[in-house]
Amino acid sequence: MHSALNYELVARCSVTKARAAVLQLPHGPVPLPIFMPVATQASLKGLTPSQLEETSCRLCLNNTYHLGLKPGQATLDAVGGAHKLQSWPHNILTDSGGFQMVSLLKLAQVTEEGVRFLSPHDGSPMLLTPEHSISLQNSIGSDIIMQLDDVIATTSPDHARIKEAMHRSIRWLDRCIKAHKYPERQNLFCIIQGGLDLELRRQCCEEMVARDTPGIAIGGLSGGEAKTEYCKVVSTCTSLLPEKKPRYVMGVGYPEDLVVSVALGADMFDCVWPTRTARFGNAVTSTGTLNLRHASFAEDFRPVEEGCTCTCCRPTSEGGLGLTRAYIYHVAAKETAGAHLLSMHNVHYLLSLMRQIRGAIIADRYPAFLKEYFVKLYGGDK
Ligand code: GUN
Ligand code: ZN
Repeated sequence: MHSALNYELVARCSVTKARAAVLQLPHGPVPLPIFMPVATQASLKGLTPSQLEETSCRLCLNNTYHLGLKPGQATLDAVGGAHKLQSWPHNILTDSGGFQMVSLLKLAQVTEEGVRFLSPHDGSPMLLTPEHSISLQNSIGSDIIMQLDDVIATTSPDHARIKEAMHRSIRWLDRCIKAHKYPERQNLFCIIQGGLDLELRRQCCEEMVARDTPGIAIGGLSGGEAKTEYCKVVSTCTSLLPEKKPRYVMGVGYPEDLVVSVALGADMFDCVWPTRTARFGNAVTSTGTLNLRHASFAEDFRPVEEGCTCTCCRPTSEGGLGLTRAYIYHVAAKETAGAHLLSMHNVHYLLSLMRQIRGAIIADRYPAFLKEYFVKLYGGDK
């Protein structure tokens, strides 16, 4: 299959399955492993494109579902895609829309044709098919596009339905491959499904790897399953996937999950959590999450995180805002400004965590990094 990317391996951990690489995409190189912030409505909640750029983000996520409704396909075609619409010069990945509809709209219904739902605008019946999702993503012009998949929560007791969803996702991948108009400039990724059943996951990996897409995602996780089950699924899949393609675990963004998933051989992650939790006044730091709405921060004049180089924390002498926990505490009550600053810090934190992970893999000290990371997070003897 055509591909518009190049996966260049830089280093491999000698103990775990962690890899460091450079992913060359149509809008520039992206270091792997990477965390991709989610910019839902063509703008990251709380951040402008230039502020997102300042966090060093070079690949962000948009949703086909949201862009397809507003501004809609005709406007996307008229403006020439989402890069132009947002004036974002770097890479974009779009999710296919089905997952968002099923998780956002309780009334969504999956049939072999596609996902049926009622328009949130006027309540009229709509149908998102694999062909329509790809056509929208072709109009969006994203550098990585995702197949439409049938996603069932891993915690569902309905094994027959999980199996059906896995097979349907394979059939839908074939329809997506056929419908894709620009394989030479947009990379279509398949999405492995199969719930927590390792045999289903193996079958799905085999079928999808044979379709030879430029990259591969592992879907259906982060839905509240036990961590041991999560790890078994990720590890089973990465063992069966080709070495020379990027591997993306969808919907994962807690720092602890990122460091562990990298050790299991995953390269790419996305999650709304860092920006969503910012709106609740939470700051993500290397010693855990701080709720800056708590009165104990009222006179805490330290930065959100000591040594953080984000615009919020960086001292004014170094061109930053030099803001303190106390400042966020006092403005966070009036929410938007606080949420804004914390979004910047949280996204910066996760991107900088990924850079540290990558550095440790290249230095072949990832096991030591993992240990130091968890000691710092949970405390304990060094
Ligand atoms: N986001 C988080 N998990 C998934 C998934 O399984 N499929 C899709 N399309 N998006 C996701
Ligand atoms: Zn910061």
